[in-house]
Amino acid sequence: MSEQTKKIIFSGIQPTGVFTLGNYIGAVRNWVTLQEEYNCAYSIVDMHALTVRQDPQKFRQQSLESFALLLACGINPDKSLTFIQSHVRTHAELSWILSCYTQFGELSRMTQFKDKSAKHADNVNVGLFTYPALMAADILLYKTDLVPVGADQKQHLELSRDIATRFNNLYGNVFTIPEPYIPKIGAKVMSLADPTKKMSKSDDNVNAFISILDKPEVIVKKFKRAVTDSDMEVVYREGKDGINNLMTIYSTVTGKSFDEIENEFSGKGYGVFKTAVGEAVADHLGPVRENFERLMNDKAYLQECYTKGAQKALQFSTRTLDKVKHKVGLVKNEVK
Ligand code: TYM
Repeated sequence: MSEQTKKIIFSGIQPTGVFTLGNYIGAVRNWVTLQEEYNCAYSIVDMHALTVRQDPQKFRQQSLESFALLLACGINPDKSLTFIQSHVRTHAELSWILSCYTQFGELSRMTQFKDKSAKHADNVNVGLFTYPALMAADILLYKTDLVPVGADQKQHLELSRDIATRFNNLYGNVFTIPEPYIPKIGAKVMSLADPTKKMSKSDDNVNAFISILDKPEVIVKKFKRAVTDSDMEVVYREGKDGINNLMTIYSTVTGKSFDEIENEFSGKGYGVFKTAVGEAVADHLGPVRENFERLMNDKAYLQECYTKGAQKALQFSTRTLDKVKHKVGLVKNEVK
């Protein structure tokens, strides 16, 4: 994060499994592009993932793999601040302070909290509830202007804006108010098994989602099985959720417009179209898989990247945290 004139981008992803095509199209792919124009910070938000019970050994491995995946997708650690959230203690510290400026009622309205507490009814922990305060801390520590996310994070982001505004109204201009940056196409990639539901890595049905490390033949097979409709036409139209989803995916990986796709598959039927989507996605993800394998064989390099990233992130974020601590009236910490 250099050249201060550039706007600042922050985003994060949970290391709860291999990224899905939804994560990739809705978020990570755009993060890669944004690196050219902005000062970017990207984080593997492992502390967020603790809100759901994790197997420790598997979780550690997944966090490392997720970090490698970010690089494999094209995040350049020399250009973007790339780090693991739990390595940078300012996140947890600011999260506590911000939770004292967040209302119980606001958190109760979060749809992700409602969904996740229904799904994990045996473990509705306080972290799950205060999750958005940690997310606000992630964003606000870096004076973030823009947050590139999929549509499902919009509500959390609005809350981050509300918390920042409330704090600024009390203490002056401390935080930059972040704007969401949601892609026009692909902000909500849907499940291949039920196109009315979001594609999610926690889906019990493995055919519902594409993991970005799936082998080409698996990707093609999953697309061939994708649920569509009883119609025959490849057109983007209301009510054709399955086809709309496949057209969106095809458009994002090939760069073709919906008109071009409709012409390309006019009169060809769904079978040909589904295979073409599967092959285009498999081709597109091929280099990611290769990069990932190479990176996972170079643990020393990964360690060097996440250590340097955390050091820089700590340095940058400490400035914001110190300002916040001063504003709320905490005594300056002189412990070295
Ligand atoms: P997470 O880990 O669930 O997802 C990471 C990113 O992927 C997007 N996404 C999708 N986009 C399109 N279609 C889908 N089916 C799909 N599924 C997921 C998400 O919108 C997200 O952008 N709370 C966040 C992580 C987070 C964060 C932050 C994000 C923590 N702190 C600060 C931004 C800024 C989350 O759980 O994302």
